[in-house]
Amino acid sequence: MAPQLNSPGEYVLIRTKDELERLEMQYNVWQSNIGYLLHPAITQREKLRVADVGTGTGIWLRDLSKMLPENCQLDGFDLFDAMFFKKTPRPTNVSFIQHNLLKPFPAQFTGQYDVVNVRAMVVALSSDEWEPALRNLMSLLRPGGYIQWLDCSAKDFIAKGATEGRVPINAERWTELLRTTANALGKTPNVNALYRIFRENGLEDCSERVYPLDNPVGRDELNRAVLDGIHNFMIAALNGRTFEWAKSADQVMAMKEAAQQDLRNLNCWFSYNVYVVVGRKA
Ligand SMILES: C[S@@+](CC[C@H](N)C(=O)[O-])C[C@H]1O[C@@H](n2cnc3c(N)ncnc32)[C@H](O)[C@@H]1O
Repeated sequence: MAPQLNSPGEYVLIRTKDELERLEMQYNVWQSNIGYLLHPAITQREKLRVADVGTGTGIWLRDLSKMLPENCQLDGFDLFDAMFFKKTPRPTNVSFIQHNLLKPFPAQFTGQYDVVNVRAMVVALSSDEWEPALRNLMSLLRPGGYIQWLDCSAKDFIAKGATEGRVPINAERWTELLRTTANALGKTPNVNALYRIFRENGLEDCSERVYPLDNPVGRDELNRAVLDGIHNFMIAALNGRTFEWAKSADQVMAMKEAAQQDLRNLNCWFSYNVYVVVGRKA
């Protein structure tokens, strides 16, 4: 039988201290390539109310709280609070709400936000869940409020820059492992359809920017984030399932070590595109 999700909306990543650190490393690499926390179309002002949905460790809210006036209210939503602000004290204007973004938000939150931010839901949502998720997130916005969604696609992961004449077979196999497994679990959303979905759901002034993660600053961190991220994804994917191409954690670890050797010996690095899509509620 083909592998299946253990539950609808299953989040295929583990929640360990290592994964928490990896998410923050990945966040820093994305930031070093993107350069802003809020898209330039979004006006920063007093008393802004901001939601970060699927907030994870809350690192984006932590950075945003340093940039915005103290009278702004910043709310993090996530299925789990296990990762939220474990390392640093939480600013007084930042709060956490436990909520599944695929379920209707309680009335006290609907129509309340000037900005809704979503980032890296690629292994959280199945391909057919992106549009219902967007509609649900839009319910949080006030008229004139913006949604900003940053994401990537398993289809885009590649190994770049190998020594001339050499093919980084093992590094390529590592990204192929992500693609094939994500595909088997229905987690290969078409990230470049986000912009169209924004427009079809009535958002205005939509824009899409694509950032290839090519900044040499942070290249080592990106390599680590991809090596460990795919590893953590595969460990979660193997929970109660096996795949023709990956039957055990030991096998996955051997593939990871081989990919790591390619990075070292062939001077190559991992890269993928990050899509930043924004739209405004009429
Ligand atoms: C890959 S992490 C990204 C975290 C953060 N946005 C970042 O960029 O570092 C995805 C987060 O989404 C959360 N998540 C997954 N499915 C969710 C759902 N259905 N509703 C709310 N949060 C969800 C996970 O618990 C996790 O914290």
